[in-house]
Amino acid sequence: MEVIIVDRPEDAAPIVAEAYTRLLTRKPAAVLGLATGSTPLGVYAELIRRHREEGLSFAEARAFLLDEYVGLPADHPERYRAFIEREFTGHVDFEPGAVVGPDGLAEDLEAAGHAYDQAIKAAGGIDIQILGIGADGHLAFNMPMSSLASRTRLKTLTPKTRQDNARFFGGDITQVPTHCLTQGLGTIMESRHAIMLGFGRGKAQAIRECVEGAVSSHWPASILQMHPHATVVVDDDAASQLAFTGYYRATYAGKPTWQGI
Ligand code: GLP
Repeated sequence: MEVIIVDRPEDAAPIVAEAYTRLLTRKPAAVLGLATGSTPLGVYAELIRRHREEGLSFAEARAFLLDEYVGLPADHPERYRAFIEREFTGHVDFEPGAVVGPDGLAEDLEAAGHAYDQAIKAAGGIDIQILGIGADGHLAFNMPMSSLASRTRLKTLTPKTRQDNARFFGGDITQVPTHCLTQGLGTIMESRHAIMLGFGRGKAQAIRECVEGAVSSHWPASILQMHPHATVVVDDDAASQLAFTGYYRATYAGKPTWQGI
């Protein structure tokens, strides 16, 4: 696991966007794993800028969302499918139908989860999976105590996560769905490169537990310690409880540019 500490959240965007640029240059038909939440928005803005100003193209790429609320109507603005289109994919050149998410309106949610894992596999697997992290260490919507080997499936959101996400629903927790379909931790672990971002003091404990604590379903993102290619990008605040910051900083400062992340 590589840990990169940046001064400010906005400093993470070019570092992460460069990994996408290298991937799409080498493999235009790459498969991207996309996350919602506020954390990746700076990266998406930088990718949009590179598309507009530097010709970065997603025309041959495909994308899979991490998760989706269950039961939100197809035209609801807070469906993750709508969110990602508004914040990222609608501003670049993905082909129609190239961006998909778990079907939170399926009648058979178990089958929909299974079909989603199959679709990722059929696409050749995810090349870069971008991830945020919940204050309780959740990854996608894998709440604490999720199976570390889980696949895309139905999950119940914790009251804390519903409270955290109420800000997108006019501050009204009763409007936040109770269930979701989410890629499992086992699904996420099959991505070839996992990049997790965490910003702000509210994420500091989760970052400490997941990066330097024991691998445990109590802190779901700790499973990334077992990932062969995981990069964690945090700002000073989110890194404030880490023990080995000197080592992380020195390692990244001494890294040759050609190596990338
Ligand atoms: C939701 C999403 C997660 C995201 C988390 C943190 O629970 N399902 O993928 O990591 O929110 O959100 P934010 O980035 O806004 O802090």
